[in-house]
Amino acid sequence: MVAPQSDNTAIIDRRVKKILRSIELMRPIPMVITRIMRSLDEPGSSAGYVSEIIGLDQALAANVLQAANSAFLGYGPSCTTLKEAVMRLGYKRIRTLVLAVAASRGMDGSLAGYNMAAGDMWAHSVATAVAAQWFARAVDYLEPEEAYSAGLLHDIGKIVLNKFAEEEYKWVFKNQQKQSETIFETEKKTFGVDHAYIGSLMAQKWTFPQVLINAIQYHHNPEGAGEYKQLAAITNLANALTPVDPETLTRLGPRKVNEASYDILKITPDRVAAMNSQMVTYYKMNFGTGR
Ligand SMILES: [Fe+2]
Ligand SMILES: [Fe+2]
Repeated sequence: MVAPQSDNTAIIDRRVKKILRSIELMRPIPMVITRIMRSLDEPGSSAGYVSEIIGLDQALAANVLQAANSAFLGYGPSCTTLKEAVMRLGYKRIRTLVLAVAASRGMDGSLAGYNMAAGDMWAHSVATAVAAQWFARAVDYLEPEEAYSAGLLHDIGKIVLNKFAEEEYKWVFKNQQKQSETIFETEKKTFGVDHAYIGSLMAQKWTFPQVLINAIQYHHNPEGAGEYKQLAAITNLANALTPVDPETLTRLGPRKVNEASYDILKITPDRVAAMNSQMVTYYKMNFGTGR
């Protein structure tokens, strides 16, 4: 039996309240992260000093080392100390990584509600980050590093939604696959709230820069991102086009480019397709992966 409309609205209202409350209760960004951010801003702070502070958080240190040796970034696996890693990555990228790691503790776990296996979320996020940076350079966006951050963080809202609405989400995901809607569209219909909006609330809570907050919030609807719509459009392209292995692709469900992204970036779909295949070729040639 289908619930009457008013009952349904009440249920959705309750769910939204519960989800929003969970964000209010979310832990603030850990002290060590704030300290790292501050050390990156201090004029003349050395790589040694920054790496010392990063070293206070073991998991974070491991992530930074891993990133510095990552094929995604075009490096070989030769970086063994944190200090070297900091020098290799540079402060801008360290900032991004640290924010991303803080925000995404949980991305390694499975997102059962989204039918995603352990690591899928992180793999999709890294692939989107790399693609966003690639597209940003191709369209001469002034801050390609920013695009990397936006790509890495665009789906953080899924972590919260998955945790607090897991049962409903299993249903949402099945329903979405049947109707070949994007998960974003199904979330909106079912909950009145979607992972992009929830992600932006998380980013706000953690006082991320406004450009990132907007890129996260509007990565499916870039035209809403006001003065930051370029970054939102780049993230939208990257999210929809980033290639992943076919198995993960199935689990992620359909992803679509929003037509507005082409207008915002003043670019044709053909040009985007060409940039995309250049990217895939580049990664395949250099690293043997299409990601
Ligand atoms: Fe998304
Ligand atoms: Fe995504």
